[in-house]
Amino acid sequence: MFVTFEGIDGAGKSTQAALCAEWLGGLLGDSNILLTKEPGGWPGGESLRDALLSGGLSDPWGELYVFLADRLEHVKRVIRPALEEGKTVICERYIDSTLAYQVWGRGLSLKRVNELIQWHNFPMPDLTLLFDLPLEEALRRMNARGERNELEGEVFLSRVREGYKSIAGEHDRIKVVDAALDVWSVHEIVRDIIARCLFQ
Ligand code: TYD
Repeated sequence: MFVTFEGIDGAGKSTQAALCAEWLGGLLGDSNILLTKEPGGWPGGESLRDALLSGGLSDPWGELYVFLADRLEHVKRVIRPALEEGKTVICERYIDSTLAYQVWGRGLSLKRVNELIQWHNFPMPDLTLLFDLPLEEALRRMNARGERNELEGEVFLSRVREGYKSIAGEHDRIKVVDAALDVWSVHEIVRDIIARCLFQ
């Protein structure tokens, strides 16, 4: 099974993905679980991750192409081999991040971005968990961690959040999780959703 974790910065994806991987490892065996993330989740991927997160790319199309280059390597070297070996893959951020950030956030054409995504025939997730929470709470969490991303203002992130909600409305594979709850309550919801999908 291929599961992706999505949401705006500060939604708690990393914590929940780690807890989920640990829980699934206990059920299915650690060697049957792969936990990975974008951008940069492949050997050598730090270079593209740094290019993307340093804020050095000024053209949104250029930024999109680097995210896609990162995904092509990640899929080829990490995700596809793991899926072919029958592993359950948990990936923090994937195609829906591109739609939410580059299309809804940066304003690129949905049609063109979708064409590029389809052209490359990326494997689609079986299940996507969208961690949704009010922007104020996400910003509060980022500030508390000293992680506030000054490059991406609040208006940008609120567009991204709206984008995610709109994308979720269009795909059955996307389940929205209330990420404002405490860590363990969210984890319980995650387990419920995945168990229903895995063991139905
Ligand atoms: P990261 O530090 O991994 O953020 P988080 O811990 O919140 O996931 O940074 C990833 C950033 O890259 C995040 O701001 C979202 C952005 N991003 C895109 O804009 N498009 C994409 O396709 C992906 C995968 C990420």
